[in-house]
Amino acid sequence: MNRQRRRSEIICRCNEVPREVIEKAIRGGCDTLNKIFDETTAGVGPCGGSCRRKLKPLLDHFLKTGGFPDKIVEDNSVRVDPDRRVLPDEDDGE
Ligand code: FES
Repeated sequence: MNRQRRRSEIICRCNEVPREVIEKAIRGGCDTLNKIFDETTAGVGPCGGSCRRKLKPLLDHFLKTGGFPDKIVEDNSVRVDPDRRVLPDEDDGE
């Protein structure tokens, strides 16, 4: 996939959020999934967040390398739950 097509790839189909918006948010300081949800609306659509399986590898790759992978390998261990808009492991305890 060329660079332009990669950047316009829709990551969150519920809220039609393209990869370039996700990458910009992460570059801008979103260092948790919950921050990405708040900044972009990706991950909090009616499907329950199936795109979180793509958001997490993007975020993890950036935090580890400072860049983004060409191909996103989905992380199937990520929790998808329509009733939880904030991930429990990132709750602030309130
Ligand atoms: S595809 Fe992102 S929340 Fe449904």
